[in-house]
Amino acid sequence: MLNPYSLNPMADISKETLEIIEKLRLMHEVLREDRQAAWKRAGFASGQAIAEMGCGPGFAAIDLARLVKEDGRVIACDKNSEFISFLNHELNRLNISNVEGVTEDLDDPCSELPPLDAAYAGFVMCYLKQPKKSLKWIFDHLQPEGVLLITDYLSQTFWASSEVSKLDEIIKAIEESWSSLGGTLGIQKSMPRILGEIGFQVTEIKPILHTAKPDSNTFKWIETFLFDYVPQLVAKQYLESKDWDAFKSSWANNKEEKGFFITAPPIVDIVARKVSR
Ligand SMILES: C[S@@+](CC[C@H](N)C(=O)[O-])C[C@H]1O[C@@H](n2cnc3c(N)ncnc32)[C@H](O)[C@@H]1O
Repeated sequence: MLNPYSLNPMADISKETLEIIEKLRLMHEVLREDRQAAWKRAGFASGQAIAEMGCGPGFAAIDLARLVKEDGRVIACDKNSEFISFLNHELNRLNISNVEGVTEDLDDPCSELPPLDAAYAGFVMCYLKQPKKSLKWIFDHLQPEGVLLITDYLSQTFWASSEVSKLDEIIKAIEESWSSLGGTLGIQKSMPRILGEIGFQVTEIKPILHTAKPDSNTFKWIETFLFDYVPQLVAKQYLESKDWDAFKSSWANNKEEKGFFITAPPIVDIVARKVSR
């Protein structure tokens, strides 16, 4: 009998997960320059041991592997084992040997990590029920003077250049549904306080705001998110279907308006250091 894996190396990953992976690939493409600039400012460098928290399918982890080069290493953690499988396929395909994918629930992390020079958390803190627990776990594994970079949302706000019908209602529904799952979309507002309580010294708080015109990848990222996520909010009754219909017809017109743009939710990079006492 034919081994299905020999025909399709991704046979162990569901179709739904492969679709999510494509959305995360687009997000990574949109944010890649910001990420690389933040890593540089935070002092990520060749030869370091870096942990990535909530690595997803590993697009950033692969860039980090190239940054730390052969004598450095990346430990990439995520709770979704299908993402870790995808990362392992990619590492194999690209012949990269300095990344280790680890399945880890960051709400209750327990793996032993090597001594770390740095850690990166991109868009995972907003999902966690207990962000402080995983940050303490990272703190305990960082070497003195080790650096943590957290990139995440300041709020789930979208600003548009002209009125988009029911956008405010949609933003409110997104926030309500997110917090009902235990996450916090504006997590970066509390992050400096949380980091200070653990013993980190915050050295940078930098905002990032992307504007998107309808023909851009950033616009595609925002639109894909809204058109995937909001119907789920309607199904769960966080939003009335007539509001969603009003939004969709407004959106179709907005996109044709001359000069229309919308902003992605504001992001903040926070860099913190484990100070020696
Ligand atoms: C928006 S994705 C970001 C992925 C990646 N960091 C990036 O920027 O492309 C959020 C990731 O957080 C992971 N995640 C959510 N809750 C988690 C938890 N409790 N423990 C570990 N990972 C978690 C998800 O599985 C997903 O991969």
